[in-house]
Amino acid sequence: MKIEVVVGDIAKIEADAVVADVFEGVEKPGGAIAAVDKALDGAISSLIGRGEIKGKFEEISVVHTLGKMPARIVAIVGLGKRQDLNVDKIRRVTGQFCRALRKLNCRKIAALPHVIDMGDIRLEASTKAMTEGALLGLYGFTKYKKPEYEDIDKILVVATEAKEVPILERAIHNGRLLAEATNLARDMVNEPANYMTPSQMAEIAREIASKHNLEFKLFDREDMEAMGMGALLGVAKGSNQPPKLITLAYKGDKQTEKTMGILGKGITFDSGGISIKPSEGMDEMKGDMAGAAAVMTALGAIAQLEPKINVTAVIPATENLPSGTALKPGDILKAMNGKTIEVISTDAEGRLILADALSYAVKQGFSPLIDLATLTGACRVALGLLCSGVFGNDRDLIDKVLKAGERTGEKMWQMPMAEEYKEQIKSEIADIKNTGNRYGGAITAALFLAEFVGNTPWIHLDIAGPRLSSKDSGYLVKGATGFGVRTLIELALGEAKNREAI
Ligand code: BES
Ligand code: MN
Ligand code: ZN
Repeated sequence: MKIEVVVGDIAKIEADAVVADVFEGVEKPGGAIAAVDKALDGAISSLIGRGEIKGKFEEISVVHTLGKMPARIVAIVGLGKRQDLNVDKIRRVTGQFCRALRKLNCRKIAALPHVIDMGDIRLEASTKAMTEGALLGLYGFTKYKKPEYEDIDKILVVATEAKEVPILERAIHNGRLLAEATNLARDMVNEPANYMTPSQMAEIAREIASKHNLEFKLFDREDMEAMGMGALLGVAKGSNQPPKLITLAYKGDKQTEKTMGILGKGITFDSGGISIKPSEGMDEMKGDMAGAAAVMTALGAIAQLEPKINVTAVIPATENLPSGTALKPGDILKAMNGKTIEVISTDAEGRLILADALSYAVKQGFSPLIDLATLTGACRVALGLLCSGVFGNDRDLIDKVLKAGERTGEKMWQMPMAEEYKEQIKSEIADIKNTGNRYGGAITAALFLAEFVGNTPWIHLDIAGPRLSSKDSGYLVKGATGFGVRTLIELALGEAKNREAI
């Protein structure tokens, strides 16, 4: 889909639909929308007057122009109360109206960048948000089934003055980058496990690397054995699919060795292993590599933005299946950092593979470390399905991640890591065991991971909740969300020496 800037009067634009936005409580549309109202002989103001249009957030009213304007349809979109509008609401409402207009068979739509009257910075931020909202909201996983709709081909962003054009174009460029990386992660998560195997993940990583000039490394079973990655290998034992440890490196700052490590849980299918899960809903566990998908695609986007920073993605990838060779409850594994782990549940496999990935990242000297993992059902119970849990050992880094999340609209909430909880994962016969009791399951999982990061500043995002959306809503569509991609990109840019967050 093309997104282009045009300068002109929105009432005169050739398009299938024109989007006119109104705030709640406003009686007469102002600015460029006033021209649309006028072209429609005051239809918008009269609909507002009669209370048919209230301007409530995400309210969409369709008016047919019947030849009064070049566009077939005017969609009047409610933005809610002016003082409540923010960048994420612009993303959400744009996703919503784009899908509504696609349903109405529109191929080409024209819209104004919202909050146009709030100065240049706001103009750039709102146009970037619109771009993200459109591309994310119109996403569909169409590889295996033809969709019921036809795609929107073009969105025209209508500028009122020529001097706005470069600002809008930059915003569209950046918004597209963020959205496309997110949609690539969504594709990976939506793919079934019979396609998205660890080897396939490695192939995709290789493609991202060659496209964006990243250093790609692939470690096989033998390499893992040589490095002592007993925990990752333990999980992989039950599967016929060979496990892979993938690294992708972006080197944007040649003056330093300092490298941020981003790690993602890459379980391409989590059956639970011998501690097998109930079959209901087990299909969702094809998405247990959402963390891995996020770090891979984020790194591709980071490379395109060329920030002065070094970032390496580390992805442990394997299936978790039961079989005659599978890991068993009671088994003891030795991780790369030398710690022994008593396996209580083979379904607590994410922390096992991350134990080795984190040990590897620490050994490489990467700092800080950020891991993303669909780690616990407990985190979904604690925070619901919108919000990811944030755990970490460094106040400053936690604040940075929370701030980045606020900018991207990816909801996050810091969780406690009180060391008293560590009691739960003490083993009598090994250094640590892989599960605690039924209370605070997301916390004991994070405390387990902490055993493998040492003193390195580290953040763990438990994305088990927000990795999927149960319905189309705002810029989310049913299925994979690509959660974390945009926050990782913002974070890397924020840490870079040469540029501010986009
Ligand atoms: N991949 C799951 C966590 C999960 C559950 C993600 C639901 C998304 C939706 C993870 O490997 C797992 O099975 N965790 C167990 C841990 C338990 C055995 C301590 C869980 O949360 O039940
Ligand atoms: Mn599991
Ligand atoms: Zn899992």
